[in-house]
Amino acid sequence: MNSVIELLHNHRSIRKFKDAPLSGEQVDSIIGSAQMASTSSNVQAYSIIGVTDPDKKKRLAELTGNQAYVEHCGLFLVFCADLYRNQVAVSMHEQPFHQNTESFLVASLDAALAAQNAAVAAESLGLGICYIGGIRNKPQEVSELLELPQLVYPVFGMCIGVPDQAPSSRPRLARPAVYHPNAYNAGRTRSDIEAYDEVTREYYKERTQGKVLTTWSKGLADKYREPVRAHIRPFLEARGFRLE
Ligand SMILES: Cc1cc2nc3c(=O)[nH]c(=O)nc-3n(C[C@H](O)[C@H](O)[C@H](O)COP(=O)(O)O)c2cc1C
Repeated sequence: MNSVIELLHNHRSIRKFKDAPLSGEQVDSIIGSAQMASTSSNVQAYSIIGVTDPDKKKRLAELTGNQAYVEHCGLFLVFCADLYRNQVAVSMHEQPFHQNTESFLVASLDAALAAQNAAVAAESLGLGICYIGGIRNKPQEVSELLELPQLVYPVFGMCIGVPDQAPSSRPRLARPAVYHPNAYNAGRTRSDIEAYDEVTREYYKERTQGKVLTTWSKGLADKYREPVRAHIRPFLEARGFRLE
C-alpha cells in the first residue's frame, strides 16, 4: 500500500469538528485539487461556494435538516452543477445553447469528481470531511441564500474541518459484490447482500451498544419505501435545467 491508497482506505465521515477555521493555504490546496479533477470534455461545469459566514452556516445547518456539523465545521463547501457559465461562454459566440439530461448529468458528475478530489486533499492535510446531501432538502432556499443564478444547482455540501472525533470506519460490501471481471455477475447478488447484512448487523450492534439491530438491506428497504426528494425535478426545471 502506498500513502495515497492508505489515505483512501482510512476514509471515514467526520461529524464533529473543533472550532477552528481553515488557513488560506489549506483552502487554496483543497480547491486547487478539486479543480484538477477530470472533467467531461473540459467543460468544467461546476462551481464551489465556500461558506464561512457564521449566519449563513447556521441557516444552512437548518436547511439541511438540522445537521449541526454544517454550522460547526471550519469550512462548508457547496458543490454546484453549473451550466450558467457555459451558457454565457456559448452566448459570446452568438450560437445556440442546447442542454438536456446529458448536460445535466455531465455537470452533476463534474461537481462530484471535483468534490471527491477536494475530500481526498482535505484528508491528506489531516482534516475531516462529511458530504451533505441534505443540501437538496430545501434547494430553492439554499439557492437564494447563496445567490445561485439560473442553470446552477447545489448537488451536495461538504463539511471540512479539524476532526473532534475518531469514528471507526464503515465496512463496505465485499470486493466481488462490486467488482465484476469482464461481465456483471448477477447470480451472486443475493448471497453478497446476505453476507454484507451479517457484517453490518454486527457493525450497527457494536456501534450502538446493541441498541440498533438492523442490516444494510433493511436500511435500504426503509429508504426506498417512499420517493425521496420528489421536489427535485420541478426544482431543477424551475432553475432552467431541461431534463429531456
Ligand atoms: C452524496 C452524499 C451525500 C451525503 N449526505 C450526508 C448527509 O446529509 N449527512 C451525513 O451525515 N452524511 C452524509 N453523507 C455521508 C454518508 O452517510 C457516508 O459517506 C456513508 O455512510 C459511508 O460512511 P463513511 O463516509 O464514514 O465511510 C453523504 C455522502 C454522500 C456521498
